[in-house]
Amino acid sequence: MKLRLWPGSLASRTAVVLLLGLMAVQIAGLTIHAFDRIEVQRFSQVRDVAIRMAGMYRAIVLASPAQRDAVLAEFNRGLDIGAEVTSLPPVLDLPEAPDPVQRLFRYNMFMGGPPPGTGGPPVRRRELQIFGGPGDRRFVAMAHLSDGMWLTLRARVDAPRPWHSPGFMAAFALMTVVAAGLTIWAVRRLTAPVATLAAAAEALGRDVNAAPLPEDGPREVATAAAAFNTMAGRIRRFVQDRTELLTAIGHDLRTPITRLKLRAEFVDDDELRTKMLADLEELEAMVAATLAFGRDARTTEPVTSIDLAELLRTILDEAGDANPEQAERLSYDGPAHATVRARSLSLKRALTNLVSNAIAYGGAARVRLAVDGGASVTIDDDGPGIPPSELDRVFEPFQRGEGSRNRETGGVGLGLPIARNILRAHGGDVTLANRAGGGARAVATLPMG
Ligand SMILES: Nc1ncnc2c1ncn2[C@@H]1O[C@H](COP(=O)(O)OP(=O)(O)OP(=O)(O)O)[C@@H](O)[C@H]1O
Ligand SMILES: [Mg+2]
Repeated sequence: MKLRLWPGSLASRTAVVLLLGLMAVQIAGLTIHAFDRIEVQRFSQVRDVAIRMAGMYRAIVLASPAQRDAVLAEFNRGLDIGAEVTSLPPVLDLPEAPDPVQRLFRYNMFMGGPPPGTGGPPVRRRELQIFGGPGDRRFVAMAHLSDGMWLTLRARVDAPRPWHSPGFMAAFALMTVVAAGLTIWAVRRLTAPVATLAAAAEALGRDVNAAPLPEDGPREVATAAAAFNTMAGRIRRFVQDRTELLTAIGHDLRTPITRLKLRAEFVDDDELRTKMLADLEELEAMVAATLAFGRDARTTEPVTSIDLAELLRTILDEAGDANPEQAERLSYDGPAHATVRARSLSLKRALTNLVSNAIAYGGAARVRLAVDGGASVTIDDDGPGIPPSELDRVFEPFQRGEGSRNRETGGVGLGLPIARNILRAHGGDVTLANRAGGGARAVATLPMG
């Protein structure tokens, strides 16, 4: 449960922590505000009641005995307040008021009660007794009148409300939503460079010539981007140096091979001469393939949208034209169209290598395209397959199977390594395996989009 609620991404995690913090602060703030408001209301209720009662007391004391009943009746018209005059103090079910309330009442009696000489102000405990309080929401004040009677004043107050206006909660909710929105926005903005860096590392893995990261934004992000670009540059130079070294060797080997071929012509022994020339021919093919490989690695063909289904059909057509006797053993199965983003020529070279291997060593090429998240091209043949001991090594440069060495295939063993290089540069891969029913199966995968 806990794991499911805890999000995976850095942005969501940071946002969750910040939003929880915001919620705690808002709840605490709201509680403090509500308590303070209740306290303020209670104080003003007590003061209000005290002032009103002082005024009532003053009116009763100053009224002549004949007016008193009329004044009392007037007071009793209000719903929240009442007054009566009795000869004995009434029995109450209320506790005596707390000291602050007592003080407030006495102070108001003193300020607003009857003036001295007329019977007031009654500030002594014996003369003025206060009961109840804000917690009871009722107040009773009993005052001893100069004629020995007791005046009882009763008041009832409303329960205090933690917030008053209906707009308050709406405003508070709006403020919370805005703060939450700002938090989420800021977190996403701040954590975006992490995702950018990851995407750049991924792109560099596919293609060493990927565009560099922009070196702007906050200082730490710019520094990380600059470091990443420097690293990418070093990797690029390293790969370039190696490729150039390879092509330089291939290039320099051509002259001595040509010289050797010329000299071999002068060998008298016919058989020896033929063998030497065949070996030199093979050497020359290897050098040519090496040079082509170096050239490939250097060309920066642009990535475009291409129709993979169309490309596979073209490759099969061309293979059929080159091997008319095997044309009916070539087939395509899959969707009519499937768009991928790739370097068209390189991808064609890679897939052609796989198809021509299937034809050369397996006598057939059944191509199947499946599109599901990524594209996967399966190429089956009917040949002997690959000896398990060689399965790991067929992707190494110049690695050729024993069976194909003496064949008239003319290959040099660079087809599979080149195909793998190309597919990996596209973010895909290629694998070769033997099928249970015999024959080999090459599977090339490519990301879609
Ligand atoms: N479908 C297959 N069935 C059997 N063996 C295969 C198959 N595909 C490749 N091989 C073996 O793997 C070896 C390496 O293949 P790779 O394509 O790299 O080189 P090549 O075909 O010999 O030469 P090149 O492709 O450079 O012209 C081949 O010589 C062959 O022995
Ligand atoms: Mg090949």
